[in-house]
Amino acid sequence: MKISDFLKVGIVTAGIMMPGQSLLAQKQVDKSVEERMEWFSKAKLGIFIHWGIYSKGETSESWAFHNGRISLPDYMKQAESFTASNYDPKEWAKLIKDSGAKYTVITTKHHDGFALWDTKAGDVSAVKSSPAGRDLIAPFAEAVKDEGLKLGFYYSLIDWPREDYPETYRDKPPKYDLKKQPERWQHFLDFNNAQLTELSSQWNPDLYWFDGDWEHSAQEWNAEGVVKLLRSFNPNVVINSRIQGYGDYATPELGVPVTKPESKWWETCMTVNDSWGYRIEDDNYKSPMTVLRMLVDCISMGGNLLLDIGPRADGSIPQEEIDILKVLGQWTSKHQEAIYETQAGIPAGHVQGYTSLGLDGKTLYVYLPYRPNESIEVKGLKSRIKKARVVGTDKELTWKHYNDISWSEVPGVYYIDVPEDVVDPYITVLALELEEPVKLYRGAGQVIDFNDTDQSLQK
Ligand code: GLC
Repeated sequence: MKISDFLKVGIVTAGIMMPGQSLLAQKQVDKSVEERMEWFSKAKLGIFIHWGIYSKGETSESWAFHNGRISLPDYMKQAESFTASNYDPKEWAKLIKDSGAKYTVITTKHHDGFALWDTKAGDVSAVKSSPAGRDLIAPFAEAVKDEGLKLGFYYSLIDWPREDYPETYRDKPPKYDLKKQPERWQHFLDFNNAQLTELSSQWNPDLYWFDGDWEHSAQEWNAEGVVKLLRSFNPNVVINSRIQGYGDYATPELGVPVTKPESKWWETCMTVNDSWGYRIEDDNYKSPMTVLRMLVDCISMGGNLLLDIGPRADGSIPQEEIDILKVLGQWTSKHQEAIYETQAGIPAGHVQGYTSLGLDGKTLYVYLPYRPNESIEVKGLKSRIKKARVVGTDKELTWKHYNDISWSEVPGVYYIDVPEDVVDPYITVLALELEEPVKLYRGAGQVIDFNDTDQSLQK
C-alpha cells in the first residue's frame, strides 16, 4: 500500500493494522490538546540546530541557491565538506541539557532536500551524498532521549531541487502546474510522507517543526492528512503552525512579540548571531544578556524561546555558541522556579521589568534586567504581598507600602528594597508572594471624597 492510500483512509500505524485498531487510534488522535501541550508550555527554552550542506559556512541555508547567489550545482557541491568528523551527539545533547533547555529541534532536512538520516525514500542524504557517510539523526535522537530532553524534528515541506517539486518563486514559470499534473504532485507528497514515516517510525519524535508551507495551500499539502499520519505514530506529537494552520502553536520568527500572541502556545525562534546555519563571516553574536532578556521576555508573555545554533560541517560547535549556552545554564539553574512552572505575567506598567506568575497565580515573579537604585516600585497591586524574596538565594527583602488607604479603591504603592548584594550579574528575579491570586487595579486613579488620615497614623 502506498502512503497516499494510507492517508486516504486516515489511519496509519507504525506496524501492521490490526482489526479493531482503528477506533482506538481514532480515540488517541482526539487526545486533548491541553494534555499534549503540557510539556511544551512548561519547557520555555528549546535549542534549534541548523546543520546541513550549508554548514561549510560560505552560504546561507538553501536560500543561497534559491535567491541566485550561487548555482544549484555549486551549492550542492558544498556537501563534499560535510564530514561530521568531529560530531559528538552526546556532547551536543549534554550542552543543550545543561543550558536549561527542555527540548531541541534539529533540521532533519532543509529546503535543499539534504536529509541528515539514512532515508530510503530519496537519494540526497548525509549517508549517500557526503563524506559523513552515516546516519546523523540516529545517535542524536538517542543522546537527546538519554538526557531526558524532548526531541523535535525540523522538516522542510518544500524541497526545491526535486524534479517533482514545482517551486513557485525561482522557476518562472514553475516546473509544472500541479493542477494539470496532480499525479506528479502526488508523487512528491508520497515522497514527503515516506520520509516522515521513516522519521516517526524510527525515532518517534515529540515535536515536528514544519517549514516552507507558504508555497502551497493546506489542501495542496494535504495538511490534515499529514497531521493524521504523524499522530497515528504518536498521538501526543506536538506540531508547529507552519503547516497551513493545522499545527498546535505559533512560531514568530526573529523577533520577540511586542504584545502577547493570540495563540495560546507559541515560541519565538531566534538566531544566536544573524544566521540560522554556521557562517564563517558572521560574528555578530548576541550577548548572553541579550539572549537572557529575550528568554524572560518570552516567559513574561507565556511563550518559549527556541534559540538556534549552527554547528560547522565537521560537527564542532563554535565556541561563542557554547559560551552563550553555558551562561544560559548558569542563569536557568539558579532561577528554575521562575522559569518552568510559570504563566504569563501582569500587563506592563505595574512594575519596571518583565513579570510572570506562578501557576496558582499567587507568586508574582519580577525580572530585573537592570541594577535597581535603592528599590523597585510595584503599583496597582491589589493583592497584598506577604513575602518578598530573591529567587535562587535565601535572601528576603523588606519593603514600604505607601498610600495604602482603606477608603480608596486605588491600592498603595510598594517599594521593595533591592540591595546591591542580591543583584544577579545578568537578571535578578524577585518572587513576590501574595496573599491571594493576583488582583490588579487598572484604572486611572480617582479623587477621594472622604478622608481619614488620622486612621492611617494610628496604624
Ligand atoms: C525560515 C527559513 C529558514 C529557516 C527557518 C527557521 O522560514 O526558510 O531558512 O530555517 O525559517 O525558522
